[in-house]
Amino acid sequence: MMPPTNSPNLAAPATDSTFVIGGRLLPSRYCLAPLAGYTHLAFRRALRELGGLGLATTDLVHATQLVSNNRHSLDLIETHPDDRPLSVQIFSGNEEHLVKAACWLAARGYEGVDLNMGCPMAKVNGQGGGARLLCDTDGASRLVERVVSSVNIPVTVKMRLGWDRDSIASPLLARRFENSGVAAITIHGRTRAQGFQGTVDLDGIAATVAAVARIPVIGNGDVRTVEDALHMRRFTGCAAVAMGRGAMLDPWLFRKLSDIEAGRDPRDPTPDEQVDFLARHFHLMTEQHAERSCRLFRKFAAWYGAKLGIPEDLEQRLRLFESLSEFDAIIAEIRSRHGERRTSVATALIKVPNGPVERW
Ligand SMILES: Cc1cc2nc3c(=O)[nH]c(=O)nc-3n(C[C@H](O)[C@H](O)[C@H](O)COP(=O)(O)O)c2cc1C
Repeated sequence: MMPPTNSPNLAAPATDSTFVIGGRLLPSRYCLAPLAGYTHLAFRRALRELGGLGLATTDLVHATQLVSNNRHSLDLIETHPDDRPLSVQIFSGNEEHLVKAACWLAARGYEGVDLNMGCPMAKVNGQGGGARLLCDTDGASRLVERVVSSVNIPVTVKMRLGWDRDSIASPLLARRFENSGVAAITIHGRTRAQGFQGTVDLDGIAATVAAVARIPVIGNGDVRTVEDALHMRRFTGCAAVAMGRGAMLDPWLFRKLSDIEAGRDPRDPTPDEQVDFLARHFHLMTEQHAERSCRLFRKFAAWYGAKLGIPEDLEQRLRLFESLSEFDAIIAEIRSRHGERRTSVATALIKVPNGPVERW
């Protein structure tokens, strides 16, 4: 049971209640960090319906493929009038390609572009993109300057602290990016060498916050609960918090945090509301992918199974169903047998790459 709002550890840090990024007034200071393969349109829409979400960002999209109208890239940037405010995240090591992709998005009415400088994967870093950009502060600053001056929509950057412990770059880069006109920075408090290991470095995030004068810095990493989010804000002074795996673990986190900001007591969802979310997520997916959603949704079976305590035979059926009517029948059974299995939720259910980061 959540303690009441007036308990000291649940008081939101005192700030102006408005949160603006590049002229966009955001509904809350709690944002969705992109998780490629998970934070797709249907998930974002289902999450927004619960309330409390500020800015959401798409999965990372390959800049070159986007401007070539690659089908997968177009799928990733698909949106809906309910899916606002949204930024599209692009990546590349090639300045021209990033500029082209940003212009392409602005010309099609997208309202924000986020540049990926945090991805640790070899295939992205090998082409000079993602976290590799942290190794060349002049190159990264030039690139950001070019993108910012090419579009009239807000440009943001999501980055890590640096390539490794011996090359922390985020404070210097944040200052330079601010001077180049970047509208906000999201900082994941780990280095590229850390991958997803260890714990997030709040001092590193605080140093990045301290390095800028005006723009908001959004802290990110390991926020799983309301208390984690409030602690991140208090400890680092960040203007906002982005949550990725925490949003999958508890999609109600955003609503709970907004309730706290508004002085209301946060409320946990009922078991029925949790099943409603699962069903809504799937049904919204069918608006984009029709029958193909049956196959696409399978990767969420284990996740929802563990999270909602879905009996194993039903979880197995969620992994194998082939039609929309079969899905509805499974949901009806889940509702009637809810609570048969104990819930056990682990971040580990969201796969992060294994083995030494050099080989990712
Ligand atoms: C499966 C997975 C996919 C991710 N995809 C992206 C991505 O597309 N773009 C990005 O900037 N970060 C990506 N990240 C990093 C997250 O946005 C976030 O920085 C990181 O997971 C730490 O935050 P969290 O603990 O709230 O998840 C991904 C992380 C995971 C685990």
